[in-house]
Amino acid sequence: IREDANSASEYVAQYIIHRINDFEPTPERPFVLGLPTGSSPELIYRHLVEAYKNDDVSFANVVTFNMDEYVDLPEEHPESYHSFMYKHFFSHVDIKPANVHLLNGNAEDLVAECAEYERKIKEAGGIELFLGGTGPDGHIAFNEPGSSLRSRTRVATLAEDTIRANSRFFDNDISQVPKQALSVGVGTVMDAREVILIITGAHKAIALQKVVEGSVSHIWTASCLQMHENAMIACDDAATDEM
Ligand code: GLP
Repeated sequence: IREDANSASEYVAQYIIHRINDFEPTPERPFVLGLPTGSSPELIYRHLVEAYKNDDVSFANVVTFNMDEYVDLPEEHPESYHSFMYKHFFSHVDIKPANVHLLNGNAEDLVAECAEYERKIKEAGGIELFLGGTGPDGHIAFNEPGSSLRSRTRVATLAEDTIRANSRFFDNDISQVPKQALSVGVGTVMDAREVILIITGAHKAIALQKVVEGSVSHIWTASCLQMHENAMIACDDAATDEM
């Protein structure tokens, strides 16, 4: 728990840098990082880019897999997760384009796209560290309330709450928000060797409480982390407000 979102984000960025720098990658075993989008991780990306510019870390031997992407939103749309990732992170560091993996929400066969993503994660040796955020309803990636805790990468339908929350990126117009997304499953996240969640802001306080103190539940899907052997939640004071 840190006093504000910036210090919590800085802590996570430093932790990731430390993990990458301590790792000895080989061509067969690169450092595989799972990544989220959203306003919470934005600050983490800012700190990672700054560290790269200060020569404190290199992403040359890092392979990334993003958590999710909207369905049927053109890749070049400013609110696509592709655009977000290049704008906030990939364009500013030395990651190799071939090492970046993002789900294609415009693929002709979405089911095949998801199966192929799972295959690629396996081929890369599994995810070393999965960074995630959570929605105010406690969802992880786009695993909305009711998602199976063993779910894999698939086509997911967004919950009303998420559509409403994400409409702030679409001129506050709910009709413009995509209704479906491709998302790694809860099971995919749980397979990572380590998971870190960033949860900041008073509007996430109920989620944080349910995820940490509630039962493991497919309603608050981030609560799955209670069952993970190596998981951490980084949050700010506001997110710990008593509800
Ligand atoms: C979306 C993403 C999640 C993210 C959540 C919260 O629903 N699919 O991965 O955690 O938004 O985003 P924010 O950090 O902007 O609150």
